[in-house]
Amino acid sequence: MVEVLVTGGAGFIGSNFVRHALASRPDWRVTTLDKLTYAGRRENLHDVMDNPRHEFVHGDIADAGVSHPLVERSTFVVHFAAETHVDRSILAAGDFIRTDVEGTFVLLEAARRAGNLQRFVQISTDEVYGSVPTGASRETDELKPRNPYAASKAGADRLAYSYWATYGLPVIVTRASNNYGPYQFPEKVIPLFVTNAIDDIPVPLYGDGRNVRDWLHVDDHCRAIDLLIDKATDGEVYNIGGGNDVMNVDLTHRILKELGKPTSLIEPVADRPGHDRRYCLDTTKLRGLGWAPQVPFEDGLRQTVDWYRRNDWWWRPIKENDPAFKAYYKAQYDTRG
Ligand code: NAD
Ligand code: TYD
Repeated sequence: MVEVLVTGGAGFIGSNFVRHALASRPDWRVTTLDKLTYAGRRENLHDVMDNPRHEFVHGDIADAGVSHPLVERSTFVVHFAAETHVDRSILAAGDFIRTDVEGTFVLLEAARRAGNLQRFVQISTDEVYGSVPTGASRETDELKPRNPYAASKAGADRLAYSYWATYGLPVIVTRASNNYGPYQFPEKVIPLFVTNAIDDIPVPLYGDGRNVRDWLHVDDHCRAIDLLIDKATDGEVYNIGGGNDVMNVDLTHRILKELGKPTSLIEPVADRPGHDRRYCLDTTKLRGLGWAPQVPFEDGLRQTVDWYRRNDWWWRPIKENDPAFKAYYKAQYDTRG
């Protein structure tokens, strides 16, 4: 059996990846290491918790006592664990530095000492390039992160690279664009707007709504990581983008149309400070290895909206019963007007 450690496997992308890996790799034994922050949920893994090839470990990547032995026994590490929400990083950046930078350092040190790892996949983000007014970011472009989340991810991205350049650790770095799909925490724009609109609650659109994101279905992201584990070259960076550049205002209209809700639910609110205008990725390098996104945005968005409609058991407890979520929502949106 091949031992694979997935950090942050109880989060949105991590849980989709764990499910994907168990289904597509019968020779893998997957260990999820997750701190279960507000964004990490056992429910995200409900259908694989009893799988004999999956083990769930509740712990902090930055706790060497927990993470070192797990890294030591692994052939591959896929490192998703992070604080991930830009708006939260603007309110308070400390956890982002602790987990995204220091936590990554602890894992890299473990991998360096273990010496038997075949691949360390550092899950980075397109946000490390900063805002790109025109054209598409290539892997060799300068990094210009502009918010604390993006900066903490850029730190981890380059720290991981340095462990390849300095110690020869078999690191690869992936930079994906905005993901969407099932089990995404309802603070991110798509699940927030969908679940608000289902309940006829206004959807808070930042600024002029003309910021552009390149949407990638989480299944296409998982397939890309899977392929890179076999085909990537150590020390290299790979962009993973869906090729679906959509303005937020258009995205909002599509969501409302899918749900049969009126556009009067759109509530223009104050912009996010330092709001990156546009992200766009050049994915030539990854496509050269044989990957292409398979989920057309229209289909993916419809399926995703439908998933939240059918699975309110998953998001209602967060939005309606969790005092921490309510406090966050208030802090984030009450001042936006
Ligand atoms: P998420 O917030 O849904 O999940 C993050 C997970 O990490 C949670 O389960 C949380 O409990 C866990 N975690 C946080 N701190 C931890 C710690 N100290 N120790 C152990 N576990 C910890 O995030 P996501 O959207 O699934 O993102 C996963 C990764 O992909 C992140 O590294 C993120 O930067 C990257 N990424 C996300 C997107 C996107 O659109 N969501 C795009 C590109 C890259
Ligand atoms: P988000 O889902 O937070 O992802 P990211 O900041 O990582 O791209 O936001 C996606 C886009 O949606 C971004 O341009 C900000 C915008 N947005 C809103 O307009 N309103 C909101 O309430 C949120 C959360 C995001």
